[in-house]
Amino acid sequence: MRVLLTGGAGFIGSHVSDMLIDNGHEVIVIDNLSSGKEENLNPKAVLYKEDIRDSAVEGIMERERPEAVIHHAAQVSVRDSVEDPLYDMDVNIGGTLNLLENSVKNGIKKFIFASTGGAIYGEQSCFPANETHATKPLSPYGITKLTCEKYLYYYHKTYGLNYVSLRYSNVYGPRQDPYGEAGVVAIFSQKMLAGDQSIINGSGEQTRDYVFVEDVARANALTLEKDVFGEFNIG
Ligand SMILES: NC(=O)c1ccc[n+]([C@@H]2O[C@H](COP(=O)([O-])OP(=O)(O)OC[C@H]3O[C@@H](n4cnc5c(N)ncnc54)[C@H](O)[C@@H]3O)[C@@H](O)[C@H]2O)c1
Repeated sequence: MRVLLTGGAGFIGSHVSDMLIDNGHEVIVIDNLSSGKEENLNPKAVLYKEDIRDSAVEGIMERERPEAVIHHAAQVSVRDSVEDPLYDMDVNIGGTLNLLENSVKNGIKKFIFASTGGAIYGEQSCFPANETHATKPLSPYGITKLTCEKYLYYYHKTYGLNYVSLRYSNVYGPRQDPYGEAGVVAIFSQKMLAGDQSIINGSGEQTRDYVFVEDVARANALTLEKDVFGEFNIG
């Protein structure tokens, strides 16, 4: 299948790209390299260095004729979303809408969206939260991801767009920025290798869910290849 992958030069997107190419798919990447790196990118992937909010997306989709879109490009930091909610909204909602509009125009067969399990549910009433748990996000980042899911449902109901939203927990693995949200895995691993102590601040009773990046890539490949629909936790 020909797949348009946004954010394909980033941490998770680059693993998705590797797995899709290994499975025989053709991958076209849109990434503005704001946090992604060209060296992450599989050499068999075609790269367009563009912004997902830009009108260039229209021309790329018309030229490349993808059958599916896998959308990973985003403002990814909860902390930055609190400091600059307007920018978070612009990239995460504006960029997604630009892709959705062009997906409908180009008859995209499946749209896979990288959502969040960690930031979409808010204060949990039970552990672990399943997909029917109330969604009361406590950050602009969580709000924009939830808003995108609502738009996906709207585009499905109005235009028949087939979509899947994958709600990742904290993803860890190779190519990760060690100071990002799941950075504790990299930081603690380095400390253990050096024989230093790892310190968890607070009560020590906190609960977090971690998932290995290659398992996340496999979830994307399976979603592309199987007949599935709707929201799924990936943890
Ligand atoms: N890392 C996690 O634990 C985690 C958890 C839940 C959801 N997610 C989601 O997964 C996706 C990938 O996250 P990641 O951890 O790989 O982050 P990342 O920063 O490594 O990847 C994001 C990619 O998007 C690109 N990008 C950013 N803004 C862009 C724009 N306006 N136009 C084009 N490209 C742009 C960046 O250059 C980068 O390559 C994001 O949508 C993120 O919200 C990540």
